[in-house]
Amino acid sequence: MRAVKISPSILSADFARLGEEVRAVDAAGADYIHIDVMDGHFVPNLTIGPGVVKALRPHSAKVFDVHLMISPVDLFVPEFAKAGADIITVHPEAGPHLHRTIQLIKSLGKKAGVSLNPATPVDAIQHVLEDIDLVLVMTVNPGFGGQSFIKSQLPKIRDLRARIDALGKQIDLEVDGGINPETARLAIEAGADVLVAGTATFTGGPEQYAANIRALR
Ligand code: DX5
Ligand code: ZN
Repeated sequence: MRAVKISPSILSADFARLGEEVRAVDAAGADYIHIDVMDGHFVPNLTIGPGVVKALRPHSAKVFDVHLMISPVDLFVPEFAKAGADIITVHPEAGPHLHRTIQLIKSLGKKAGVSLNPATPVDAIQHVLEDIDLVLVMTVNPGFGGQSFIKSQLPKIRDLRARIDALGKQIDLEVDGGINPETARLAIEAGADVLVAGTATFTGGPEQYAANIRALR
């Protein structure tokens, strides 16, 4: 099977010990650190802002994979870039001009990602595919950890795999939501090469994290 990167979502970490949790998943073999930013408007939950990202930055040298579920998004892109994000991912519904938002992210020297909600078709991002570094397919409705994987998204992952391969460009195909060892296999078979995992990474306490991550690969 294809080699995959694992991006633990710190949404499922102990928020009272976030720095330690980031160090623990870094040591356990995480490739990226997935940071879910929610505004209570674009999605029905509130999480963290750029101040927390900045505070976490000294705790890991791994790629900070920042998933912005906020609208309007452009105002905050420079804040997250300054705070230490490496990849900044936005949803096409989060602003009026997706192409402009991507250019903004790239002008700040960061990698640009675009995320598709379960109801958002691949065609919504075809016009920017060659400009971006990552596509994030949501396999739950964004907002919360611990939800079940929506299998109807598998054809979308396969479609994106084909479009990315046809382009011949290095673009991460990341899948987020309900990932466990069983659904990880489905996502990888469909063509994913980065898996976000919150619940599946952070169960069992820090001494389990390495085994949890290994089980997903
Ligand atoms: C959901 C977030 C996910 C979430 C995944 O809106 O984007 O990153 O933390 O959590 P699990 O892995 O528990 O489904
Ligand atoms: Zn996410």
